[in-house]
Amino acid sequence: MWKRACVLAALACVALGGPASASEGATHPPAQDWEFNGLFGTFDLASAQRGLQVYEQICHACHSLNHVAYRHLGELGFNEDEVAAIAANYQLSDGPDENGEMFDRPAEGSDFFVPFFANEEAARAGNGGAYPPDLSLIVKARSGGADYIYAFLTGFEEPPDGEELPAGRYWNEYFPGHQLAMPNILDVNTVEYTDGTEPTHAQMAWDVTNFLAWAAEPQMMERKQMGLKVVLFLLVFTALMYAVKRKVWANVHH
Ligand code: HEC
Repeated sequence: MWKRACVLAALACVALGGPASASEGATHPPAQDWEFNGLFGTFDLASAQRGLQVYEQICHACHSLNHVAYRHLGELGFNEDEVAAIAANYQLSDGPDENGEMFDRPAEGSDFFVPFFANEEAARAGNGGAYPPDLSLIVKARSGGADYIYAFLTGFEEPPDGEELPAGRYWNEYFPGHQLAMPNILDVNTVEYTDGTEPTHAQMAWDVTNFLAWAAEPQMMERKQMGLKVVLFLLVFTALMYAVKRKVWANVHH
């Protein structure tokens, strides 16, 4: 009896399209018109360059980018001097030297992005116990990809009536479970874009998502170009084989 009532109630909920309780699940991120979408899509390099600025000046304070080396930024359109200048803003521990001592030195193009926190424990301690995940592959690691990351960064809201948030927890429409330890950082912090673009919340979210999409798959453009070449080759090859077949069989009478 109760079972049937539950099933009916669940069906009614589905039929009416009523939202599940706000504390469960998460809203589906809306699809965005990314320049890298589709078969011929390419990265919007100007946006990704601005996104690097957002990452460096805002996200880096909590999130590492362990799988990206400074020299990779060459693919985003920075020349060698610019890459060296970006890297030199960071200090890392190296060594040991001839006396067996570790020493600090500025990062170079061949180094990977230097994290703000020395290790996961330090990152957790700085964030109320929550771990800010490494962002190198986050666009690939989350269902919804770039659409999700953009929706997430623009999805911080006041909690619905009746929802109590513990101290140090924030409300996000798109985050599974809605409550998380990351504040609505793009409302609090802003960057001054070197190309003069207005740094609105949505613009910074868009740019940093473009940057992270590139970081997660820097070879995407090459991959698509190669795919295109292979398809073209196969088309030409098919036409050629067809012509050969016609020629070989031309004098055979059935
Ligand atoms: C003050 C520290 C802090 C800053 C600055 C910060 N974050 Fe976070 N972020 C966190 C923490 C902590 C979490 C983990 C939250 C949790 O699991 O409760 C997180 C989680 C995330 C997630 C994962 C969400 C998921 O689905 O698991 C993404 C993506 C993210 N942050 C992106 C960014 C970006 C992009 C920026 C820069 C615009 C940024 N964060 C700036 C602390 C920060």
